[in-house]
Amino acid sequence: MDQETAKLIFNGKEIELPLVCGTMGEKALDISGLRKATGMVTIDPSFVNTAACYSKITYIDGEKGILCYRGIPIEELVEKNRFIETAYLLLHGKLPNAGQSEIFSNLLTENSLLHEDMRHFFDRFPRGSHPMSIMGTMQNAFSTFYPNVDSLSLREAIDISAARIMSTFRTMAAFAYKRSIGEPVVYPRHDLPFCANFLNMMFDSPVRPYKVNPEVVRVLNCLLILHADHEQNCSTTAVRTVGSAQVNLYSTISAGIAALSGPLHGGANQAVIEMLRRIVRDGGNVKKYIDRAKDKSSNFKLMGFGHRVYKTYDPRARIIKKRCDDFLQAMSVDDPLLEVALQLEEAALRDGYFIERNLYPNVDFYSGIIYRAMGIPENMFTVMFALARLPGWIAHWKEMIGSQTKITRPRQIYIGKVPKK
Ligand code: ACO
Repeated sequence: MDQETAKLIFNGKEIELPLVCGTMGEKALDISGLRKATGMVTIDPSFVNTAACYSKITYIDGEKGILCYRGIPIEELVEKNRFIETAYLLLHGKLPNAGQSEIFSNLLTENSLLHEDMRHFFDRFPRGSHPMSIMGTMQNAFSTFYPNVDSLSLREAIDISAARIMSTFRTMAAFAYKRSIGEPVVYPRHDLPFCANFLNMMFDSPVRPYKVNPEVVRVLNCLLILHADHEQNCSTTAVRTVGSAQVNLYSTISAGIAALSGPLHGGANQAVIEMLRRIVRDGGNVKKYIDRAKDKSSNFKLMGFGHRVYKTYDPRARIIKKRCDDFLQAMSVDDPLLEVALQLEEAALRDGYFIERNLYPNVDFYSGIIYRAMGIPENMFTVMFALARLPGWIAHWKEMIGSQTKITRPRQIYIGKVPKK
């Protein structure tokens, strides 16, 4: 069959651009040969209309609110699978069988200890440092302690490298929290699975032993699965871009952590809670904040609302909202912030401004309320997001290293001063 093309007519010259089609029917114009044919580039600031790569990892239909990892809808994954199986799925393209799952679990356990010298780093960060800044720095420092992970070593030992990054990140996150509250760190245990181990490192103390609650483990697995990947979002694009220069994997991941920390991206989950608390303190006047979000002269936005890709309800937010309600009931938690969040959502979804712009709750709108009920402090919310996103970043890095040989290097349209001579 002949390849479909689109015609571009410019200056009387006709150029044929090939059309490419994804497995879910998405069509795109391949403009990679455009400059050679015409001398022109395309311009698309912030990549609102640019597919930067081919990928087999995650599929999103932003109009219908569909999200699948490796062809499996997230609704199915949160019902049937644990986070580490989902991580394996993202990394390998298929869910693990029992044997593969056990091997991966063992690798996570074996690689969960942090190099003892790195533990001392925590003493040197200023008290009150944001944990995301600490995590980014620690992650970058990995390349000085552990063997370099390049494309060759990763192909041979993807599981070990992924397990080391995921497992030590989890340990470091809990250590950062313990240091911030002045308590001794709790080491990982060989007898606890991934999520339970994290909760134990966070909440166990010499004077208050922690008993793992299966309800908390279940909801944590769900949250981590829902955040595990989201195709070419800002932080994943950072990972692919930095990785394309053949930077080692640890530093590449730290670029992803930096990107995720911003309030327009992963940092929104903390910003949502700060906003909800402000509204409660302000007497619960939801309308006032809806009006402020609509006012173009204020730079206030309804945090946890809107998305570049979803023009309908974010499927992750739908699941989280339901789990949030169930979890708070199961834990007998009565959080006034949930009531305000529900009112805010209802008011926004009835308001013309939000309807016209297709602004719906995103993944960050309800997740913080669950984290609060779990006892996770607000400044750790984005760290939780990063912990979940690690397998996604590594999967994209692996895919990029295996398929892209060129460094990422966009062009620009120069609009600055013209040299006099
Ligand atoms: N509150 C009020 N208005 C909004 C909001 C919001 N949360 N989000 C978008 N808008 C408005 C914009 O002002 C714009 O209005 P205009 O057409 O009159 O200029 C219109 O809706 C389109 O929004 P853009 O900013 O062009 O959308 P973009 O795709 O660039 O940004 C983003 C998406 C960053 C998520 C944005 O919706 C936002 O800032 N939301 C709040 C922060 C947030 O929740 N971030 C988490 C996103 S999910 C994630 O990263 C995990």
